[in-house]
Amino acid sequence: MKTRILMAVMCCLSMQALRAAEPLSLIPLPASVEQGEGHFRFSEKMRASVDVYPGDSILMVFNRFADDFKAATGIHFSCGKASKAKIRLKHNAAMAAEAYRLKVTPENVLIEAARPAGFFYALQTLRQLLPSRAAMAAVRPAGGTCRSEAWTLPVVDIMDAPRFAWRGFMLDEGRHFYGKEEVKKIIDVMAAYKMNRFHWHLTEDQGWRIEIKKYPRLTEVGAWRESKVLGWGDTKPDGLRYGGCYTQDDAREVVEYARERFVEIVPEVDIPGHSQAAVAAYPEFLSCDPDKPHEVWLWQGVSTDVINVCNPKAVQFAKDVIDELAGIFPFPYIHLGGDECPTDKWKANAHIARKPAGEQRKLIFWNEVLHGNTGFLGQDITIMAWVGADAAAKDAATRGMHTILSPQIPYYINRRQSDLPTEPRSQGHGTETVEAVYNYVPMKGVPETLQPKYMGVQANFWTEWVEDAATVQYLMLPRLAAVAEAGWTPQEKRNYPDFLKRLQAEPEYYRFRGVNFAKHVFAEY
Ligand code: ACM
Repeated sequence: MKTRILMAVMCCLSMQALRAAEPLSLIPLPASVEQGEGHFRFSEKMRASVDVYPGDSILMVFNRFADDFKAATGIHFSCGKASKAKIRLKHNAAMAAEAYRLKVTPENVLIEAARPAGFFYALQTLRQLLPSRAAMAAVRPAGGTCRSEAWTLPVVDIMDAPRFAWRGFMLDEGRHFYGKEEVKKIIDVMAAYKMNRFHWHLTEDQGWRIEIKKYPRLTEVGAWRESKVLGWGDTKPDGLRYGGCYTQDDAREVVEYARERFVEIVPEVDIPGHSQAAVAAYPEFLSCDPDKPHEVWLWQGVSTDVINVCNPKAVQFAKDVIDELAGIFPFPYIHLGGDECPTDKWKANAHIARKPAGEQRKLIFWNEVLHGNTGFLGQDITIMAWVGADAAAKDAATRGMHTILSPQIPYYINRRQSDLPTEPRSQGHGTETVEAVYNYVPMKGVPETLQPKYMGVQANFWTEWVEDAATVQYLMLPRLAAVAEAGWTPQEKRNYPDFLKRLQAEPEYYRFRGVNFAKHVFAEY
């Protein structure tokens, strides 16, 4: 018993010591932070008041936070009148869509926002202000018998709103498959950093990962291959049967999980290139040479076994797939790839753009589609700029299209981030460091007239070499935090030394959340 009391006291003291010694470690850095003197102290039972909003959705945001907070701290909130509340969530219709105010005084906490997303982001910031990152992961810290008063917030007034509406991360599960629990972890980390678009790259030459009921062989055949590793140079296919896929119910479960965290999912079906797995499943109408043998690819690179878009059945296939995707993913955007494929095959995709009303989605393509005879796609598409990204994005914006910046260098965060021996096998030479990722300046030198076309930024993660989720996490973190800050924080407030200082608090969060991360930028390792 004595030991437990001692541990509790030590835990509380260490939380306080941490608080006294360290500045606020907020990522992404808010637009405006005014720090004051003193602290707000939680007690075991707290009163909250939450303004009414259609669908009770502010209350839902608060209740999820309250559940997580209770799991970490034991502190219980009950909702009631504003006059008695210590924590007040106040609707302010005048604010921008994702903006919020978080005002902490020694007496109470006031949160204002116009939309549920704004309240969600305010509560993410509040979690980062707490003395332990345990509350971000809804986990009891060790010595979790700490008294409730040990949970405090610094006095602060934060006014915040994102720089860009699109703050994305793409995961390639075509080449390697990790499963829904791993995807949920990524969505959690994205949400902690106020990122809001999960681009799910679900099909590749090396695997088709999403159930399409009209074409069952896509997953029966296309989700499986005869090697776990993907051959490249001296690395040969290993002969292991490997694969996996998401049922539509699995995908809907992930959709719901993401929605609760204000993350929209952008499913990608990469056509007409990068489609060898689909061709292997239905060579009779997808292949350019149906009499030859076709298999799900065992190699890295760009396969020449692309979809025969001159076959009307292949065009119908694309329409049917998109129809089913629209029934699974309720969000506005679908990504149709279009990268690394001869552009003369593009014409047939005009049919895809003219889907039946009611199930229409906005379409995103990789920037190669700008090079071909693609005028028929019109301006109503979004270009995800990766190769020669700055110039491609500007080209798209000049033509009146929207654009998202996902520059291969340095935003492909599967690439090596150092030349240390601890770095896993991956692409690149170690030059996509945390600092290099952080220092990329989105929309640099873009004339003001074009800026409204720039929707935001996105990090991409390709998985040729990455066979397990722990390695995805290692390469992704902490670089994802650097991209998140580029998407959120005003450019003039960003600087790497300051970011690196704030970043030092993150290993605690990663450990509580149970995710792996690169250690070399953290002083404690
Ligand atoms: C890409 O990296 N092929 C979009």
